[in-house]
Amino acid sequence: MASFHHHYLLIFALCILSVKSEDPSAQFCNENSNSTSPEITKNINSILPKLVQATSQFGYSATSFGHGQTQVFGLAQCRGDVSTQDCSSCIQEAAKEIRNFCPNKVDARIWYEYCLLRYNTENFIGNVDTGFGVFYWNVQNVTDPETFNDGLGTLVNQISTIAGVSGSKGLGKGQTKLSPFLTLYALVQCTRDLPELSCRQCLAIAVGNFPTYCENKKGCRVIYSSCYVRYELYPFFFPLDKQAALESNLMTNYSSVVTKP
Ligand SMILES: *[C@@H]1O[C@H](CO)[C@@H](O)[C@H](O)[C@H]1NC(C)=O
Ligand SMILES: *[C@@H]1O[C@H](CO)[C@@H](O)[C@H](O)[C@H]1NC(C)=O
Ligand SMILES: *[C@@H]1O[C@H](CO)[C@@H](O)[C@H](O)[C@H]1NC(C)=O
Repeated sequence: MASFHHHYLLIFALCILSVKSEDPSAQFCNENSNSTSPEITKNINSILPKLVQATSQFGYSATSFGHGQTQVFGLAQCRGDVSTQDCSSCIQEAAKEIRNFCPNKVDARIWYEYCLLRYNTENFIGNVDTGFGVFYWNVQNVTDPETFNDGLGTLVNQISTIAGVSGSKGLGKGQTKLSPFLTLYALVQCTRDLPELSCRQCLAIAVGNFPTYCENKKGCRVIYSSCYVRYELYPFFFPLDKQAALESNLMTNYSSVVTKP
């Protein structure tokens, strides 16, 4: 299994919170990426509506705007199970918020539960990036770790294989019954610019960090720039039993940690 030890991790935040799906799950504003030219700002302002339009329509967009030193690369994507309408409103919100959160920087990223958006003057398209990460875990422990971890390992393996296959749009999701009363739900999502092998590599790094942050936890979320992994003991992906999901989610407290390259 891939490990995280080749990264130098700086853990700079640890807090307990209730997660609301309409708030960003994570944001990254690269402080070392000052915008030095108004031309870049212009290109950022131009690429955002392009990303919003294409992603609202296709659920994914990777594109660039401008030329030479001031060229800006952008990528936006919705989680593959999310409706066109939810996707569209998520990506519009992301495009609005990212400029507020990260003005005058050329490397900016924002994640919501349903979508992500990023841009940079460096071309990142097609590269696996697990440098910046956010982990959320349910503060509650599972009662039967052995059964739970067996089921989790098998399920995550299955859906990671699905996500890596071309045609899956980087999405894998599934559920497994751990007992008559307990069902485990899991979803993995790679950004769609990644080749098959890179997708699997990103997911393996994410899952490889389960023992560090999510050992025996009832729920876990790993957010990277190139992939996303989540499991819960309640339904959270579409098609969804909305009431069951809402009730379980409201009952749940998560802790989080941010890792940086
Ligand atoms: C970026 O700009 C800010 C504000 O102007 C400045 O304080 C900072 O040192 C700059 N960072 C770099 C890496 O140039
Ligand atoms: C979960 O288990 C860990 C490790 O055994 C323990 O430190 C922690 O207090 C437990 N958390 C809860 C909410 O019981
Ligand atoms: C979640 O945290 C809040 C505030 O700390 C607490 O009142 C509540 O009981 C917690 N809920 C669960 C399910 O642990």
